[in-house]
Amino acid sequence: MSKVTVIGAGAVGATCAEAIARHEICQEVVLLDIKEGIAEGKALDLYHVAPIELYDTRIIGSTNDYTITANSDIVVITSGVPRKPGMSRDDLINVNADIVKSVTENVVKYSPNCIIIVVANPLDVMTYHALRVSGFPPHRVMGMAGILDTARYKAFLALELNVSPKDIQAMLLGGHGDTMVPLPRYTTISGIPISEFKISEERLNAIIERTKQGGGEITKLLGTSAWYAPGNASAQMVEAILKDQKRIFPCCAYLDGQYGLKNICVGVPVKLGKQGVEEIIELQLNEAEKELLMKSAEAVRNMNQVLYKD
Ligand code: NAI
Ligand code: 2OP
Repeated sequence: MSKVTVIGAGAVGATCAEAIARHEICQEVVLLDIKEGIAEGKALDLYHVAPIELYDTRIIGSTNDYTITANSDIVVITSGVPRKPGMSRDDLINVNADIVKSVTENVVKYSPNCIIIVVANPLDVMTYHALRVSGFPPHRVMGMAGILDTARYKAFLALELNVSPKDIQAMLLGGHGDTMVPLPRYTTISGIPISEFKISEERLNAIIERTKQGGGEITKLLGTSAWYAPGNASAQMVEAILKDQKRIFPCCAYLDGQYGLKNICVGVPVKLGKQGVEEIIELQLNEAEKELLMKSAEAVRNMNQVLYKD
């Protein structure tokens, strides 16, 4: 039986659990939250959808009782404080580090063989933190950001070029923040390079800029951060791993020399399968792309140093 636990039954966690159930990605989803009753309530509501949407996935809620999560195949960590307007992802670091630490310790205790997908922000730092706290091998700890960021980039391009978002493929590197690096050279529409479409450099740059600010744009509108796209993006990673799909996505992964970077978790193309991060794909970057990636990695490293001096 395949089992997925989603920690944090807030906006992103509940959306992720719903997407997992709706697509019948596993047999059982456990939703766990520290706030009394919220996970049980949302799990019950979501299971009431099963006879409407016709899925068999069981959804079980728990108020901080990790025994119910025991032996999960995958644990998605969404527990954390979201951004408020005017707040950067980095402002969240200390608050969320404590939450991610205590959650990860429980995850390791009850599901020692699981794969961890971190969603809490600041994403690259929290992924590194979960990796260090868990002591898991790096292929079993990763972060979700690149699927969301490329989805925003693809959605903006689809609107600009009046094409289907289904046909856009894109890659993105770096941290989940303002220094992220969308890659126009690796952007195609049904295999046709973006350079062959009628889009000026100025418009493309504006889309790249909007992508980088994509989370902030929504936070300004809603007064909290996004959840539909983040929840669905996390579920897509769960599916790729549980079904051993070998899909290639931009994900936050631990680098040990790849791209000239070491001892850091940052966004790169990876292959996801039943082992977790089964391969890190190294692109042949040009000098400008390399420089942007290094700048982004530097920003992540500076934040890591708030928690780790080595
Ligand atoms: P939310 O406030 O709706 O949900 C967070 C939930 O975590 C709350 O229900 C809270 O009670 C719970 N929680 C707090 N401490 C906990 C603990 N120790 N154990 C269990 N549960 C605990 O927030 P939302 O919108 O769901 O966002 C969650 C996190 O995901 C935030 O850090 C946010 O910045 C991040 N995020 C990351 C994205 C990404 O691309 N990686 C995208 C969107 C959000
Ligand atoms: C987002 O990009 C805030 O990380 C969150 O929507």
